[in-house]
Amino acid sequence: MTTRSIRFRLIAWYAGLLTGVFMLLGVLMYFDLKSFLESTLRDTQARRARQIADTLVTRVHQTGEGYVAAEIKDLYEPEVNDRFIRVTRADGSIVYVSGIPNDQSFDPTQLPPLASSRKEFSQKVRLPGNTTLLIAVLNYQTPEGVRYLIEVGAPFDPVETMLNHLSLQLTLGLPIAVLIAIGGGYLLVGRALAPVDQIARKAEQITQHSLSERLPVARTADELERLSLSLNHMIGRLQDAFLNSKRFVADASHELRTPLTVVRAELESMSANRDLAPEFRETIGSVLEEVERLARIVEQLFALSRLDAGESQAEWVKFDLAELVTTTADQMSLLAEDKGISVSCDAAQPVLVDGDRSRLKQVVVNLLDNAIKYTPEKGRIQLRVASLNGHAVLEVSDNGIGIPAEALPHVFERFFRVDKARTRDPEGAGLGLSIVKSICTAHGSVVEVESNGVGSRFRVKLPIARANKFP
Ligand SMILES: Nc1ncnc2c1ncn2[C@@H]1O[C@H](COP(=O)(O)OP(=O)(O)OP(=O)(O)O)[C@@H](O)[C@H]1O
Ligand SMILES: [Mg+2]
Repeated sequence: MTTRSIRFRLIAWYAGLLTGVFMLLGVLMYFDLKSFLESTLRDTQARRARQIADTLVTRVHQTGEGYVAAEIKDLYEPEVNDRFIRVTRADGSIVYVSGIPNDQSFDPTQLPPLASSRKEFSQKVRLPGNTTLLIAVLNYQTPEGVRYLIEVGAPFDPVETMLNHLSLQLTLGLPIAVLIAIGGGYLLVGRALAPVDQIARKAEQITQHSLSERLPVARTADELERLSLSLNHMIGRLQDAFLNSKRFVADASHELRTPLTVVRAELESMSANRDLAPEFRETIGSVLEEVERLARIVEQLFALSRLDAGESQAEWVKFDLAELVTTTADQMSLLAEDKGISVSCDAAQPVLVDGDRSRLKQVVVNLLDNAIKYTPEKGRIQLRVASLNGHAVLEVSDNGIGIPAEALPHVFERFFRVDKARTRDPEGAGLGLSIVKSICTAHGSVVEVESNGVGSRFRVKLPIARANKFP
């Protein structure tokens, strides 16, 4: 997953948003709860101090201090409730102080009096042993004018423990929640984008030979469905345009064949006429050459358009490729002999293949024709047919002018010729090898070329016939 992918960006955005919202809510919740608990505890202690003042200390001159102390102990039971209560006279002497609480969390005698001129306040006091008390202090004056300091406190630690728990839960819960969100988001976004992946994979498989295929359409009634439908319409339009141009080449080459044959026949009969002036006959001869070249190109174009239409599969038979290559080489030996080129044929063993015999003969003819054309006089050509790893292999190698490395990937393209100045053959149109490639493709096979400066080697691999023996 790259950082620019939709999946990554969506997940990063939502994970970031979630983290931010969680952190904000967590901090707000923590501080809200902290202030609520603290103020509740403070209010409770202050209320209790006022209660002691209003109900007990106010009547101290009638009841006596001993009664006040005994009542506080009875009514509030500070040791049992882990509370701290102390009543001090203005001179600092103590009327009542609670004892060590049952949980032993603090010792009240270690607490210095929180004397102050303020009437009412509260304070947190940290005691040895790490206990913190929240103490409400009340400076009280009896109706008789006697001043007492009333202190009521409670441990603050439970509040702190609760807040610590909460912050721990938030710190652990946040990453877990974000991780779950990322995992869920990864799966959901992946599932949502799966159709895009399928469309991309299918689109890559569609070539000029499979324009009838269409992209999968996800029926999601959204932009994705519209995109695949639009792309399918586009492929449909491309298919029409492609078929039209193929049909045009097929029709044009077909229509040109008959008039060209007539023109050629007329020109041949004219050039045979001895009554014509020699320079006129010469002109007719060179026109005839051009017409023959034109006729050859038209024939090649016609052959290519038939191959494009998939007609070669119509005449499939099982035959011996070695025999086909030997007889074809024999038939073309005159061409090689004219240039003093030796052609050796290594095809002693029969190699059976399934295919269109006349088309595969065309492959041999075109490759051999090239080898003869592009090999200087006294050169050598070698043909080889063998079965190799379940394939029938046909190799045509020569020691001719070779093919430059930069031209090798293009030699099978239509109308491609390496360099017209390299050969004295003005006839070639650059269609021979594209016909070879089309025939091979129709046979489910491949043709490869290699050239290392001296000579070239063409290799055709055909699927071997299942039973490699004559019926
Ligand atoms: N055996 C070879 N040695 C050197 N160059 C070759 C050989 N075979 C093909 N080529 C190069 O590849 C080009 C394309 O070959 P291709 O057979 O398609 O066309 P062509 O021979 O020029 O014309 P055509 O076959 O249509 O008469 C040739 O023009 C030539 O430059
Ligand atoms: Mg050729």
